[in-house]
Amino acid sequence: MALLPAVRGNGTAVTARTLRIATIAGDGVGPEVVRAAVPAIERAAALDGGTIAWDHLPLGADHYLATGETLPPAAFEHLRDDVDAILVGALGDPRVPGNEHARDILLGLRFRLDLYVNFRPVRLLHPTLTPLRRIGGSTIDFVIFRENTEGSYLARGTSARVGTDEEERIAHEVHTAPKVARILRAAFAWAEAHGKTRVTMADKSNAIPAHQLWRRLFAEIGAAHPGIEREHRYVDAIAMEFVRAPERFQVVVTNNLYGDILSDLGAGLVGGLGVAASANLHPGRAGLFEPVHGSAPTIAGQGIANPMAAVLTGSLLLAELSCPRGAAALERAVVDVLATNVRTPDLGGNATTAAVADAIAGQVG
Ligand code: NAD
Ligand code: IPM
Ligand code: MN
Repeated sequence: MALLPAVRGNGTAVTARTLRIATIAGDGVGPEVVRAAVPAIERAAALDGGTIAWDHLPLGADHYLATGETLPPAAFEHLRDDVDAILVGALGDPRVPGNEHARDILLGLRFRLDLYVNFRPVRLLHPTLTPLRRIGGSTIDFVIFRENTEGSYLARGTSARVGTDEEERIAHEVHTAPKVARILRAAFAWAEAHGKTRVTMADKSNAIPAHQLWRRLFAEIGAAHPGIEREHRYVDAIAMEFVRAPERFQVVVTNNLYGDILSDLGAGLVGGLGVAASANLHPGRAGLFEPVHGSAPTIAGQGIANPMAAVLTGSLLLAELSCPRGAAALERAVVDVLATNVRTPDLGGNATTAAVADAIAGQVG
């Protein structure tokens, strides 16, 4: 089943077809993990009769520093019009402290392609990966639906007296009914389609009156799904509960900023950023798929970045492109390799990126 009910692709499991996948490997460990994940993704796609036509776009900090270009119009139009999916490594480089290229490329694509669902699964793929002593077995399995097109991320606001002792920065949070409603609907629809029984919505409506919109729409939209329990949590409380009782969550829906923070916390519950995948989706359109992690500049270039997040991101990508066998095979391959203890240092091992990637590719098909 594709990630969201309105699927892209032809909906048939096994047909010979070409998947046009653009990559933006980006910065730091981004190119390392994308390069590592490609062979496994290719093998997996073949299980559904898919052949991948890759289109590697050299965008990122190097390109920006050399040319001043972040996301040139022709590249944007190409990504918008000509591809089935976009696979991103990571964007962010210490040489660009203002992060303007990442804002244009990553946030720019999310906004301009209107990829309003940021889908971030939190699954325990091997019992040793959780730092929680109490959890035995694979009992952590939930999905975060992060609103991806507004909230605090629009960079609206004002700056005054910059650089003085009286500097003032005002950042507007934007929450509009149609955009809040559609992420809530997506969360409920996904829950229903996947047999889930509860959706939890997190906000801070006790301190931020604007979040009352989320409360109202959650109640209204949830009422149309009588089989699904609606649960509200303040975001501070849910952060605590993620640690205390993560096994009770099924679907968590929240705004852009809280979804960003909670998804790293969720990753921390199941092995860290080296195993956390995400998909930026608008049903019926080409999506953007990226590991949750960033460019990890302190380990870049050492060949030790964990490629599992990128492989699991490939699994989300194939699921969305109606390649269910390939999607399942990639996840199973990661689970199998975790069981053999071939692990990069973030997971306590001493294997290289390439060794883990080879082991995963060897398990596919
Ligand atoms: P980060 O995710 O790059 O790193 C956080 C920690 O996780 C570090 O200890 C890092 O070594 C570790 N880590 C991350 N990915 C790993 C992997 N694949 N294998 C092993 N360890 C891994 O976050 P940060 O340090 O806050 O940010 C670094 C840069 O990345 C910043 O410029 C930030 O803006 C950017 N960033 C980009 C994205 C993206 O492109 N999707 C996401 C998050 C951060
Ligand atoms: C993520 C990242 C981005 C975000 C940054 C790089 C702007 O942290 O994808 O989680 O905050 O969305
Ligand atoms: Mn983040």
